[in-house]
Amino acid sequence: MCGIFCLLSLSPTHFEWDKLIYEHLKKRGPNSSQDLTVTGRSPCYQCVFSAHVLHMRGCLRPQPVEDSTGNVLLWNGEIFGGLSVMPGENDTAVVSQRLSSCNSPSEILSVLSSIQGPWGFVYYQKDSDYLWFGRDYFGRRSLLWKFDAEGLTLTSVAAYTFGPDQSPWQEVPAVGVYRVDLKAATEAGSVIFEVYPWAHRGNDAISTFSETTFAFVPSSSTVVISQLGLTPPVFPLNMSIPKSLNETEIHPNSNSSVKDLAQLLASREKNYEVNSLVDVLSEAVRRRVQSLPFEIQDQPPPNNGHSSVAILFSGGIDSMILAALADRHIPTHQSVDLLNVAFELQEQKRQSQSVKKPQKHKNKPIDPRTDGSASRTSSSFDVPDRITGKAGLKELQSLNPERRWNFVEINITQEELQKMRHERICHLVHPLDTVLDDSIGCAVWFAARGTGFIIEDGHQKPFTSSAKVILTGIGADEQLAGYSRHRVRFKMSGHKGLLEELAMELARISSRNLGRDDRVIGDHGKEARFPYLDEDVVSYLNSLPVWDKADLSLPRGVGEKLLLRLTAKQLGLSQSAVLPKRAMQFGSRIAKMEKNHEKASDKCTRLLTHCNE
Ligand SMILES: *[C@@H]1O[C@H](CO)[C@@H](O)[C@H](O)[C@H]1NC(C)=O
Ligand SMILES: *[C@@H]1O[C@H](CO)[C@@H](O)[C@H](O)[C@H]1NC(C)=O
Ligand SMILES: *[C@@H]1O[C@H](CO)[C@@H](O)[C@H](O)[C@H]1NC(C)=O
Ligand SMILES: *[C@@H]1O[C@H](CO)[C@@H](O)[C@H](O)[C@H]1NC(C)=O
Ligand SMILES: *[C@@H]1O[C@H](CO)[C@@H](O)[C@H](O)[C@H]1NC(C)=O
Ligand SMILES: *[C@@H]1O[C@H](CO)[C@@H](O)[C@H](O)[C@H]1NC(C)=O
Repeated sequence: MCGIFCLLSLSPTHFEWDKLIYEHLKKRGPNSSQDLTVTGRSPCYQCVFSAHVLHMRGCLRPQPVEDSTGNVLLWNGEIFGGLSVMPGENDTAVVSQRLSSCNSPSEILSVLSSIQGPWGFVYYQKDSDYLWFGRDYFGRRSLLWKFDAEGLTLTSVAAYTFGPDQSPWQEVPAVGVYRVDLKAATEAGSVIFEVYPWAHRGNDAISTFSETTFAFVPSSSTVVISQLGLTPPVFPLNMSIPKSLNETEIHPNSNSSVKDLAQLLASREKNYEVNSLVDVLSEAVRRRVQSLPFEIQDQPPPNNGHSSVAILFSGGIDSMILAALADRHIPTHQSVDLLNVAFELQEQKRQSQSVKKPQKHKNKPIDPRTDGSASRTSSSFDVPDRITGKAGLKELQSLNPERRWNFVEINITQEELQKMRHERICHLVHPLDTVLDDSIGCAVWFAARGTGFIIEDGHQKPFTSSAKVILTGIGADEQLAGYSRHRVRFKMSGHKGLLEELAMELARISSRNLGRDDRVIGDHGKEARFPYLDEDVVSYLNSLPVWDKADLSLPRGVGEKLLLRLTAKQLGLSQSAVLPKRAMQFGSRIAKMEKNHEKASDKCTRLLTHCNE
C-alpha cells in the first residue's frame, strides 16, 4: 500500500505542500517518503512526484522509481498474477522495467491489461513527454484528481476544507487509463488528455461513461476517447435468461423455518459449481494471505504472537467464508484477527427498540444460535453484528480448535465517533459525501484500526490488531444478488432486470465503495484485500447463469447468494450459511446512532460541517 501524489504544472511554479494532504499520504505509507521534481526542457512543464510506501514484508521498495532514461513510476498496487514476478524481485521494479521497454501506447496498455491485482499508478515517459495515470478495472485503489488553471493534481487521498465552493477533488473514474500529452498541454495552456477505455464493458457502463463520467472536467480541458483500449481482466457477465421455468426452481410459497431451509440447502445439487467456486475462491484467498512472490522467501513467518492477517468480521456468510478459507492457508500456529465493530446504542433508543414489535420482517429467520432474544439484553454494544460475530467465532473455533482466533470487540462510543470523524474520517471519505458514505466510512475506519478487547482466560484484555493485511467481503453481494434491492428488481422485472442491476452494480463498485474503503483502511497503514473481486473469481461467477448464483423465489437467508450458502456448507459452516444480509451500517448500529429520518443517499451534514481542520 502506498500514498502517491503528482502535481503537474504547465509552467514552472513554486510548490508548497498542503500539510494535511502530506500527512494523510504519510499515514498510508509510513515507512519511506520521497519526493522528486521533474522539469521539462523545451515545453517547460513541471511535475512533482511524491511517494509514501508501506513496508509489507520482505524488502522495502522506495519510490518514486526513476529508470536510467528518466521515466518515473509511482505504483500503488499489488500483483497477484498476470505478470511474472520472481522470488526476491519486487513488483514496483518489475512494472517499471516492463513499462520502460514499451515503445507505443498499445504496448503500455498491454502491460497494464495483463496485471491481476489492484493498482493505481502515475507514469511519466520522459522522451515523449507523456504523463499516464489510472486505476485497475474495478478501481480497488483510490486515485483522486483536481484541475486548476496551472494544471492537474493526482493523489491517493486528499483533504476536506470547509467552504461554500464545491470541492475541487473528484475520484478518477475507473473507466480506463489516461494519458496527458505534456507538450500539447503546455502549448495550449490547458490539460489535454486521452482516455483508453476498458473495452467490452457492457452497454450500461459505456453510456454512463460518455454522458456523465467527465461532466466535471473543466471546459478548458479537452478529453479525447481513444480507439485503443485495455483488455478487461475478466469474462463478461453471462446475460442468459432461463428459457423455461424448469431451469430455475420457483418456490412462491416458501415460508419455511430455518431448519427446513437448511434441509433445502442440503438437498440442492450444485456440486460442480460449488466445488469450482471453492477452488477459485480458495486460491484468491491464498494469494492474499501467503507471502507474495516478491517477498524474501527464507524470512521466517512472524512468530511474535502477532497476526499477519485480519478480517472485517460480522459473522455473516461473506466474512465466514473468508475466515474458513484463510484457515486453510495460514499456518495453524499463527493467530487470525476477526475485527468486529459495534456502535453504542443509547439508552433511550435501546428502550424504544425493545418496546417495538420485534418482528418487522415476518419471514426473517431468527438466528437459532442466539434465539433472537440476546439483542434486547445486556450491553449497549450488543448490536446485531456483535451477536452474529460471536456465534460465527464459535463455528470457526469448532472448525479449527487449534487456531487462535482473536475476536476483537471494537466498541465505539458516540463521543469517539464524533471526535474521529472530525479529525480524520471526513478527510478520507471525501470527496464522497452521502449519509451512507459517512456510516460505512466510519464503521470501516474503526474496524480497520483494530483497537478493542479480546477475551483471554475469561477476562477482557485490551488488544490492538497489528495485521497489515485486511480481508474484506466486498463484492459478494454485488455478484451473487445479496441486497434486498435485488429482490425488488427481480419481482418487478424478472431475471432480465436482475441481470441489468448486477451488471450496473459491478460497473460502479469503484465509485460507490472501493475508492472510499481503500482511503479509509489505508489510513491505518494497512492494506485492504478483496478476494471476491479477484479476477479469476469474478470471471468464474460471471460465466455462470444468474439462476445458478441466486434463487430469489426462495426466502431471505436462503435464496440470495444461494451458491455462496451452498459453498459455506461445503466448507463445514452451518448456521452462518443461512443468515440474511445485514448491511454494515445497520449491523454495527452506526445508522441508529444518527438522525433517524435521513436517507442513505442524502448529503451528510456531519461530514460537511464537522470537517474544518
Ligand atoms: C513501518 O512503519 C510502521 C508505522 O510507523 C512501523 O510500526 C513499522 O515498524 C515500520 N516498519 C519498518 C520495517 O520500518
Ligand atoms: C526493489 O526496487 C527498488 C527500487 O524501487 C530497488 O531499489 C530494490 O533494490 C529492489 N529490491 C529487490 C529485492 O529487488
Ligand atoms: C419441465 O418440467 C416438467 C415436470 O417436471 C416436465 O413435464 C416438462 O417437460 C419440463 N419442461 C421442459 C421444457 O423441460
Ligand atoms: C406457511 O406455513 C404455514 C404453517 O406451516 C401454512 O399453514 C401456510 O399455508 C403457509 N403459507 C404459505 C403461503 O405457504
Ligand atoms: C464491549 O461490548 C461487549 C458487548 O458486545 C461487552 O460485553 C463488553 O463488556 C464491552 N467492552 C467494553 C470494554 O466496553
Ligand atoms: C451462460 O449460461 C448458459 C446456461 O448455463 C450457458 O449455456 C452458456 O454457455 C453460458 N455462457 C457463457 C458465455 O459462459
